[in-house]
Amino acid sequence: MPSALPLGDPAPADGALPGSVVDGADERHFGVYLHVPFCRVRCGYCDFNTYTSDELRGERRADFAGQAIVEVGFAGRVLRGAGLPERAVSTVFFGGGTPTLLPVSDLAAMLAAVRGEWGFAPDAEVTTEANPDSVDRDSLAALRDAGVTRVSFGMQSAVPSVLATLERTHDPDRIPQVVAWAREAGLGVSLDLIYGTPGETLDDWRASLDQALEQNPDHLSAYALIVEEGTKLAGQVRRGELSAPDDDLMADMYELADDRLTAAGYDWYEVSNWARRDPDPTVHRSRHNLAYWQGHDWWGIGPGAHSHVGGVRWWNVKHPAAYGDRIRSGVSPAAGRETLDAETRRVEAVLLRTRIREGLPIDLLDAAGRRSVAALIADELVNAKAALAGRVELTRRGRLMADAVVRRLLE
Ligand SMILES: C[S@@+](CC[C@H](N)C(=O)[O-])C[C@H]1O[C@@H](n2cnc3c(N)ncnc32)[C@H](O)[C@@H]1O
Ligand code: SF4
Repeated sequence: MPSALPLGDPAPADGALPGSVVDGADERHFGVYLHVPFCRVRCGYCDFNTYTSDELRGERRADFAGQAIVEVGFAGRVLRGAGLPERAVSTVFFGGGTPTLLPVSDLAAMLAAVRGEWGFAPDAEVTTEANPDSVDRDSLAALRDAGVTRVSFGMQSAVPSVLATLERTHDPDRIPQVVAWAREAGLGVSLDLIYGTPGETLDDWRASLDQALEQNPDHLSAYALIVEEGTKLAGQVRRGELSAPDDDLMADMYELADDRLTAAGYDWYEVSNWARRDPDPTVHRSRHNLAYWQGHDWWGIGPGAHSHVGGVRWWNVKHPAAYGDRIRSGVSPAAGRETLDAETRRVEAVLLRTRIREGLPIDLLDAAGRRSVAALIADELVNAKAALAGRVELTRRGRLMADAVVRRLLE
């Protein structure tokens, strides 16, 4: 079951943005997120905004690309109406759900609409998420031809029993196959892994890391399993059918991942993300995700998608049928919005930038926050050398405790 949306203020039907969004816009990148809210089946742990065919209340997957293209045109008009400068798109991300459940021609049409509306920056990064069992050699080549530059496969684990607990439907042997096809097509490759699945041992996790590394991906994400309320997994844990993930084991798993990935030539650049160091530590980072953490601008297209432009944040209605109704009526699909004041923006910048390798400029902290950095250095959670140079950067122990650190910095 997808989680609930934030409350916020009502969003205007014409989507109009306040003039304040123009301030500093030249210094911010502009990205586009396209949310494709469909999955063949729902994995037991997932509360993303995604729907199987019998949950669509009469809405049709086949109509989705056309609706998203209408929102692209709407976004272009709203951004120009606010007086924002013309900015070419630096990054595009198809997320889900399972974008690759749609025919490649639909993804290509959405991408062409984005390009037509704003143009692409010369080195634009275009990513799609993909389930290993929803692509083949031809579809990957066609994605490359359409302008996709990298693909992020939901591998999750190499161990059949772990995949079964997660209710993943793909065969782990398919991973080397789809990675080889993606490479043949000239696509960059990222793999998503999950650790801390009930019953998963440290040896299981080591095997998954090793098999992921054997594929020599450009980028890897390793997420600690979150038992999201309302999911089938949460029910199984509540009833005692599965054990809850153990915090100490999760910490060991994180350390093992960081050791193994660092030794294999990958550097962390965000708490859960590593990029291949060669030929340069920044080349293989996901610039789209970095833009979220660095507070750039992006428009989120599709049901439940979130957007942020110059301190105004909004989110679309969640269900594809509600989204389709809004688009057919020619009104904004936004369900709510909030305008962040300077203090909220500062606090959010601290929260987001604490997660990334570059850390944050120390002057983003208020006096109490700066004082607590000294205590965090003593606890070895913050890199002392960086702090002397005016930046707050987490050590590995700090990364492990990122959430707790953020709370203390803000006390
Ligand atoms: C939209 S999915 C990726 C694309 C595709 N739907 C798939 O699952 O292969 C994004 C990623 O979020 C992660 N994820 C989803 N639910 C999670 C949870 N409850 N805890 C940790 N990671 C989760 C998974 O690693 C997944 O690959
Ligand atoms: S395939 Fe991905 S988005 Fe779909 S239910 Fe599974 S984890 Fe969630």
